[in-house]
Amino acid sequence: MQPPADLVPLPVDPVLFRQVTGRFATGVAIVTTAAGGADHAMTVNSFTSVSLDPPLVLVCVDRASRFHGAVLDSGLWAVSVLGAGQRAAAERFATRGRPLEGQFADWPHHRGAGTGAVLLSGSLATIECRTHAVHDGGDHAIVVGRVLDLDLPDPDGAPLVFHAGTYRAIA
Ligand SMILES: Cc1cc2nc3c(=O)[nH]c(=O)nc-3n(C[C@H](O)[C@H](O)[C@H](O)COP(=O)(O)O)c2cc1C
Repeated sequence: MQPPADLVPLPVDPVLFRQVTGRFATGVAIVTTAAGGADHAMTVNSFTSVSLDPPLVLVCVDRASRFHGAVLDSGLWAVSVLGAGQRAAAERFATRGRPLEGQFADWPHHRGAGTGAVLLSGSLATIECRTHAVHDGGDHAIVVGRVLDLDLPDPDGAPLVFHAGTYRAIA
């Protein structure tokens, strides 16, 4: 059945929007890139796999974030999927305005061979990407990445989970 042609979307309450979409439990990851001589990072829960052939993943990036300009400039980025014991990293890389310089000093890390982007050691899984497409996503950009490299350093590790605005672990 076709919707009526004159159907106008109702105004959406932003608080309710967050409450409703926040009921969709997700993992938590740190996306990283290097641009302008600096390492950038951002906590995300919008990471999603998209396609197997070709292998594509996506992350939705706030246009107002520093990471947005950096990832568009660089075109190379990486994803570290966090384990239950990495909540402090999630909190740190979600803090707006934190100094970029030395921001990885407290976190064991190494660089991905495919991108040179920082990968957090101790993560459950890592993915390195080249930007494949950037789509309009309202106040976010939908950045789709072609997978260059994958690693599974802790395949049995428990994930860090985000649900209803709170970090959780799977019991
Ligand atoms: C659990 C969690 C998930 C988040 N997911 C996203 C996301 O998917 N996309 C995004 O743009 N910001 C997301 N954020 C907010 C960014 O982590 C935050 O704005 C960060 O400070 C941006 O870093 P920057 O200003 O250095 O770019 C999330 C925050 C939290 C706590």
